[in-house]
Amino acid sequence: MKTTIGMISFIAVGLLAAILFGFRPEATRNLPFDEEQTGLTDRIVIKFSHVVAENTPKGLAATHFAKLVKEKTKEAVEIQIFPNGMLYTEDTEVAALKRGDIQMIAPSFSNLSAVDSAWLVMDLPFAFSDQQAVDKALAGELGTLLAAAMEKHHIKSVAFWSNGFKQMTNSIRPLRVPEDFAGLKFRMLPSDVVISQFQALGATTEKIPFNQVFASLKKGIVNGQENTISNIFTKQLFQTQHYMTISNHGYLGYGVMFNESFWDELPPSIQAELQSALTETTEWMMRNTAAMQEQQLGQLKQLKDIDIHTLTPQEREQWVRAFLPIYDQYRDRIGEALMKEITRPK
Ligand code: LMR
Repeated sequence: MKTTIGMISFIAVGLLAAILFGFRPEATRNLPFDEEQTGLTDRIVIKFSHVVAENTPKGLAATHFAKLVKEKTKEAVEIQIFPNGMLYTEDTEVAALKRGDIQMIAPSFSNLSAVDSAWLVMDLPFAFSDQQAVDKALAGELGTLLAAAMEKHHIKSVAFWSNGFKQMTNSIRPLRVPEDFAGLKFRMLPSDVVISQFQALGATTEKIPFNQVFASLKKGIVNGQENTISNIFTKQLFQTQHYMTISNHGYLGYGVMFNESFWDELPPSIQAELQSALTETTEWMMRNTAAMQEQQLGQLKQLKDIDIHTLTPQEREQWVRAFLPIYDQYRDRIGEALMKEITRPK
């Protein structure tokens, strides 16, 4: 008798468990996961728009940042990334940020110079001898002044990210001395200093959004362009360009920006977690960007169709001489406080 009751109880418990956990009808099991059930309807969503590929320093940093934020805030904050200019291009992203349609952007310094002329300082050719010089300047007074410049535009500047130095490419001839630029047309980043830089070399320019550079080079609308190795590599610009000069003449970095009122309304604890994730991402980027550019340059060197020349010290001297008047030309617009933070090249 006892054995029968035991067996019946065993079967009953088994059946109940199966009904509860195992034999749920197919329809119930396939119901979509609803975050409301896990109490996450209050999750803070940050839309982060940028214009480059996902496998570039900025694209990878964005992904790294999103992952850190997810961990640090225990999923209370979600960073949604929109790469490749799929949502907004450099021409429209600042306005979208100010409207609050997106909450976070990371435009290049050149793009930011269109918002505030203080950022022109970062485009002065040969202003920084190496990455260390850039990092030191941005961690000091120069960085403080650039971030402060955004306050009057109601934009919160929270970090500086790096993509390294720009190199010149074109499809017509090797670029060694200023005379080689005569008559050529270059795609330029939207910065007055960059226009002056090409004028000083005897070239003309056209402002073209980043995601149209490849097509413009291919169609011959412009003969050349300047960019970092990672942007040249990931956008496959090398397919249209027969010559590249490793000149390191200009720096391409990013200002990481938030919509100011969105940032101000975040709980202080969330601001602190975001700031900590940004600091970690910036450091991570510093460690990885140079290695990535080095590896991609190695791959470019394997290609037969592109001739890569590294500027000699004598050639560099000629470029520097051509660029020096730009420093005086922009001194007033940039302002003395920023100008004294950089070293005129020699
Ligand atoms: C460019 O327009 O070439 C750059 O600003 C792209 C980028 O964001 O790296």
